[in-house]
Amino acid sequence: MHKSVQDIIKMKKNGKKISVITSYDYTLASLCDKAGIDVLLVGDSAGMVMLGYENTIPVTMEQMCIFTEAVSRARQNSLLVADLPFMSYQARIDDAIRNSGRLIKAGADAVKLEGGSPITKTIRAIVDVGIPVMGHIGLQPQTTMLSEGYKVQGKTKDAAMKLIHDAKNLEEAGVFSIVLEMVSREVAEIISETVSVPTIGIGSGAGCSGQVLVIQDLLGMYDKIKPKFAKRYMNLSEDIVKSLEKYKNDIESGTFPSNENWFSMEKEELEKLRDKIGS
Ligand code: KIV
Repeated sequence: MHKSVQDIIKMKKNGKKISVITSYDYTLASLCDKAGIDVLLVGDSAGMVMLGYENTIPVTMEQMCIFTEAVSRARQNSLLVADLPFMSYQARIDDAIRNSGRLIKAGADAVKLEGGSPITKTIRAIVDVGIPVMGHIGLQPQTTMLSEGYKVQGKTKDAAMKLIHDAKNLEEAGVFSIVLEMVSREVAEIISETVSVPTIGIGSGAGCSGQVLVIQDLLGMYDKIKPKFAKRYMNLSEDIVKSLEKYKNDIESGTFPSNENWFSMEKEELEKLRDKIGS
């Protein structure tokens, strides 16, 4: 049985840190699940790291459902959360409920959406139909990217007060956890102490209940943006390029394929074939 939303809530109560990683495809999701990561997040960052968009705005529900289905086929132990993409929940509450339902039918256990106090009615409506919701405040790539770009959030007293207020309102609306993206370390810590639900930080310091990273950042596979907060555990893109160069050389030099990579016919059958075609 895989982890539940309640298991994740309990982790904060028991003082156990929560590991979250983004996942978009079957192969890497299987490895994340095998490694014991607590939560797999099908983030709309898929639009950038999987589909090559400049930002997350163009991502569609259809694309999110395909990524969610792939990850759900792989996961056995982790909780699976999927992002509601831009404009799948902002215009109307019934859109938000219907689109959350689509992600659940695609295999997610919960949905995540960006927004503070103005989005609480929508969150309440989704929670009321029985779908767990993860909130997301601080930097909200779907909208802050349109106006401000990547900026640390909560650096002044007023900005910090707004974030704390938003977090409380999200908790009140029924979220089971809250992502804090690029929130100053001190404010993230205060929010984590203030709300009872787990906080999941990305670029928000060690005071959060857990951490999330984009898997391509962790593995060193995406070079377009290198956020300061993303710890690189390996430089996979270098290894991949080296392996592909070697593969190309092996083809050109005739080293690949060799007899362990091909299949042969029985000698007798080959002779019969040669007789038949006269060679
Ligand atoms: O889309 C995403 O990957 C996210 C995480 C960075 C929190 O929302």
